[in-house]
Amino acid sequence: MTFLGAGEKPLVEVKGLAKHFPVRQAGLLSRPRMLRAVDGVDFFIARGETLGLVGESGCGKSTTGRLLVRLYEPTAGQIRFDGVDVAGLAEREFLPYRRRMQMIFQDPYASLNPRMTVGDIVGEALDIHGLARGKGRLERVHELLGRVGLNPDHAMRYPHEFSGGQRQRIGIARALAVDPEFVVCDEPISALDVSIQAQVVNMLEDLREQFGLTYLFIAHDLSMVRHLADRVGVMYLGRIVEMAPKEELYAHPQHPYTQALLSAIPVIGGQGRGSRIVLEGDVPSPLDPPSGCLFRTRCRYAEARCAEENPALTEIAPRHWAACRRFGA
Ligand SMILES: Nc1ncnc2c1ncn2[C@@H]1O[C@H](COP(=O)(O)OP(=O)(O)OP(=O)(O)O)[C@@H](O)[C@H]1O
Ligand SMILES: [Mg+2]
Repeated sequence: MTFLGAGEKPLVEVKGLAKHFPVRQAGLLSRPRMLRAVDGVDFFIARGETLGLVGESGCGKSTTGRLLVRLYEPTAGQIRFDGVDVAGLAEREFLPYRRRMQMIFQDPYASLNPRMTVGDIVGEALDIHGLARGKGRLERVHELLGRVGLNPDHAMRYPHEFSGGQRQRIGIARALAVDPEFVVCDEPISALDVSIQAQVVNMLEDLREQFGLTYLFIAHDLSMVRHLADRVGVMYLGRIVEMAPKEELYAHPQHPYTQALLSAIPVIGGQGRGSRIVLEGDVPSPLDPPSGCLFRTRCRYAEARCAEENPALTEIAPRHWAACRRFGA
């Protein structure tokens, strides 16, 4: 299943989602400035769908993922999960939802407590949610380790005894322990050796089928979401600049930023995608973003009027949205 059927409600839907971090500058007594990590994002994810989210470092992907599972409180916006706005719920009311949405973290080294055994890391959420005890808990932990390609005796060991790929498998087992419906996969393969990236992607794909999961799959670059995603959103400086079904996005990228990202992907054995579009300069600081269209400082189509208004996401073809004044937004 890829898209929302008629009358079907999305599993996840966000509207106007924003996270601004107060940042104090060293040595200055002035008021903290606001860093707009996520600044007005709208999207939905249908049940069983995988939405890919891509963009350069610092564009707000992890912050978006953390907001969805409520590791961060949003500055503004709604997060609807199965029809309920969970952004406004008190912790106690949110607990049943916490079980239903889990996260696999970007850094398999920092995300596992070094003082806990693998068995306790995977079993901890079972305790918190009161899902299994004693022998049942141990059996469940062993079963989960098996699902991610590890052995029961790994439960007695500590994270430092494992490779990056194995640690990421432990993180995946931990996320699956509570039988979630929705999993945010935050760059689960970026930190791993190229030789094992495909294994982990294939495993995530199998687990999606076995458990009927819905994913938000975050990656730096478009080649990494190509395999798993049904639709892809492209982020730039805290906003989504383009979103479309995967085939459509790869075949007809419309936003100049997406075009540049795609042109950077080498095509193995082919003629390439034509000329590579080189993005000038770095991403501007989200503390001091450009006026008007946020991408204009690196855009080859920029004109004077792009400095005046930040274009809204507009549906330019069925299910294909882009934010650029060239599409009349
Ligand atoms: N806790 C925080 N406090 C202050 N600023 C933060 C915090 N977390 C993230 N940021 C800032 O918010 C912006 C978005 O960060 P985020 O981690 O969401 O980006 P990302 O797209 O996941 O990047 P990467 O690809 O490097 O993981 C960055 O400028 C980052 O420095
Ligand atoms: Mg990140």
